[in-house]
Amino acid sequence: MKKLTTAMIALPLALFSAAALAGDAAAGAAKAESCMDCHAGEDFEGLSLEEIANAIRGALAGNVKHPPGLDEIAEGDVDDVAAYFYAEAGGQ
Ligand code: HEC
Repeated sequence: MKKLTTAMIALPLALFSAAALAGDAAAGAAKAESCMDCHAGEDFEGLSLEEIANAIRGALAGNVKHPPGLDEIAEGDVDDVAAYFYAEAGGQ
């Protein structure tokens, strides 16, 4: 019985954190509007959601050369923008 109770608590928590991680593509669409002046979904084709998020974080951190335009989004927007790029790239 104890095991069952633990599972009943753990499962919704796991589902919740997965959803929280995934970001919101619809919210990302608005935030990524300026990005789409230069980017298209195909720029991110074949990448996983996580890889896209990591690429954006890396670019935000200055790890890659990026022309002006990246400062339109903040760290807190990354998951939403990544979800949007991922959907645009045909990942969903
Ligand atoms: C002025 C045009 C322009 C705008 C606006 C722009 N980008 Fe870029 N972005 C580029 C160019 C050019 C590259 C480099 C492409 C290359 O060298 O392969 C790039 C590369 C990237 C990369 C790949 C970095 C890597 O790891 O290789 C990411 C991620 C990215 N941009 C995200 C964004 C996001 C998010 C936005 C909006 C907040 C944005 N970009 C807005 C032109 C732009």
